[in-house]
Order: sequence, then C-alpha cells, then structure tokens
Amino acid sequence: MEKKNIDWSSIGFAYMPTDYRYVSNFKDGKWDEGTLSTDPNIVLNECAGVLQYSQSVFEGLKAYTTEDGHIVTFRPDLNAERIAASAARLEMPVFPKERFIDAVEQVVKANAAWVPPYGSGATLYLRPYMFGSNAVIGVKPADEYQFRILTTPVGPYFKGGAKPITIRVSDYDRAAPCGTGNIKAGLNYAMSLHAIVDAHKQGFDENMYLDPKTRTKVEETGGANFIFVTKDGKVVTPKSDSILPSITRRSLIYVAKEYLGLEAEEREVYFDEVKDFAECGLCGTAAVISPVGKINDHGKEICFPSGMEKMGPVIQKLYDTLTGIQMGRIEAPKGWIHVIE
Ligand code: PLP
Ligand code: COI
Repeated sequence: MEKKNIDWSSIGFAYMPTDYRYVSNFKDGKWDEGTLSTDPNIVLNECAGVLQYSQSVFEGLKAYTTEDGHIVTFRPDLNAERIAASAARLEMPVFPKERFIDAVEQVVKANAAWVPPYGSGATLYLRPYMFGSNAVIGVKPADEYQFRILTTPVGPYFKGGAKPITIRVSDYDRAAPCGTGNIKAGLNYAMSLHAIVDAHKQGFDENMYLDPKTRTKVEETGGANFIFVTKDGKVVTPKSDSILPSITRRSLIYVAKEYLGLEAEEREVYFDEVKDFAECGLCGTAAVISPVGKINDHGKEICFPSGMEKMGPVIQKLYDTLTGIQMGRIEAPKGWIHVIE
C-alpha cells in the first residue's frame, strides 16, 4: 500500500480529513451494524441534543507504524472502557467494547495510507466520539445517538516538540467537585477554552488547574495529566476524583516501576510542594510526555532544575521507554499493543 504524499515530519496537531471514518447509529434502543463512510460532514436536526445541551463524549488514541512495519494501536481496550464510563455518566448508551475495537481496526485499515511511516515523528490520531443526535428541547437525554471515529495524521501537540514549555496557574477551573472532570466529555473542554485562549495571549503554553474545592492541590492541564520527579528520582503523579484517568499516566507508572525500577506513586500533590520537584511533564495521548520547564504562579516563577533546553533525565527515560514500547523497539507488557496489520 502506497502512503499519501505528505511531508510527515512537518505536520503539527491539526485536523486533516482522511479517506474514511466509521459511523454507527443508535435508534430504538439498539446500535446498527456500523459502516465506513467517505463523507466528513454530519447533517443534524437543529434541536439535536448535542447542539442544545452538549451531550457528547470522546476519546483519543493513536495508530503507529512499528520498526518492523506493522500498524498497531496502544491499549484501545482502555479507551473503550473509558468512553463507556463517560457515556454512562452523561446518560448515553454504551458502545460495546468489542464493537469499539472492531471499529478501530476497520477505520485504521481503511486509512492505512494515512498512517505515518516509522521514524517520521508523526502518528495517525483516532478520535472516537458519540453524541445525542435527535431533537430534545426539555432538559433530558436524547433517544438517538451517533458513534463515529475520525482519523487524522498528527505531529507534536506543542509547537516546539520535545522542548520544555511554560505554563501558568489558572484562576479558572476546568471541573467542579463531584462534576464531570473524570470523564472525557466535550463540555469539560468548552469550560477550558476561555482559559487557554487567555493563557496563550499572556504567552503561556498551557494552564495548570488546581483542585476546584480548596485550590491547594495540583489537578491537570486542559489536555494532559501531570507527572513529577522528586530530587531523589521518585515519580509522583496527582490523584484526584476530578481529573481524567489518563491511559498514558497509568502506563507510565507501570513503566517507571517495572521497566526502570523507579519508585512511583499516585497521591495528592499540594501546589506548595511543586517548587521542590526536580522535573515536571505533561502526559497524554496527544502530549505524549511534554516537559514543563517553568510554572508561573501569578508572576512568581517556579523553574525546574531540568531547565528550558531539554527534558530532565528521568522524564527522558520514561519517554524513551514508552515510545519504544509503542513503536515496537521495546517488548510491551502483555495486551498493550493491538496489532492491526
Ligand atoms: N487529561 C485530559 C484533560 C485529557 O484531555 C487527556 C487526553 O486524553 C489526558 C488527560 C490524557 O489522557 P490519555 O493519556 O488517556 O490520552
Ligand atoms: C488526547 O490526548 O487524546 C486528547 O484528547 C487531548 C486533547 C487536548 C487533544
């Protein structure tokens, strides 16, 4: 199969329509069999649940070309489980796990020419999503839904690639106590749009959100979880009921302990202790691991000893091991790599 003629190494994190997307509809209490479509557009009733009350959930995962030329995805079973949890929280029907994996396989195979080659620095991003599609005017869940997966080739989420970024402590919250911060609902991202536009205007790459109840603990950013390294080399990641349970973060904790022999813990992290860490990074499917060099807290700067030029040594090891597993250079734990072809 011939790859598309794209300068893979120069693409950023942007939408580029590919040849096929997967579509399945839920009506009369059941999902139809699903199909691949060449049409990137969706026609909806003006009163659709998603348009009126933001009833939508989504996921993000990537397809990689491995060193030996296979196309694989990373732990898609966990994305299937997480979108099921997100859907249940928003009173939406669950798209079954085996159907989710089958849809991932179909859409990646159909778009194989769009999966960037090994070593190009790019990957094929998959965006599964589901939304209320029939008309609702009173505040209630829709009765009909559409599940889709679109794919788009992407490069690094942050412009500088692996260069450390600068973030600021946000005065806005992205989640509420007992709210929806722990699911992947579109509404959480709508909450964060003003904060990110404002952060960019002020010259920052991202926002650090604190816990909405006490504003003393570190939560996450708009699109990634935090990972810190202590001065004695221990990996620490914030635990909270209002952050997204990142698949990358859960994988990194395992990698830290089982591959690198590091101590790793998930616990509440007070903002006051952040100044004492040696390294800081953001982790997620889109972010992979993006190093943070500096945090601005209302004009007061926390500069990590790892500096603004390159990743700190522990984060670099985590990055190399995780991406090594994803690209087939390092043997993966059982079940992590789902071979498509
Ligand atoms: N936190 C938020 C708010 C996100 O949007 C994402 C991206 O999916 C993550 C964390 C990272 O999660 P994952 O590693 O599963 O991609
Ligand atoms: C992902 O990492 O898949 C996300 O959904 C995060 C988003 C900011 C692009």
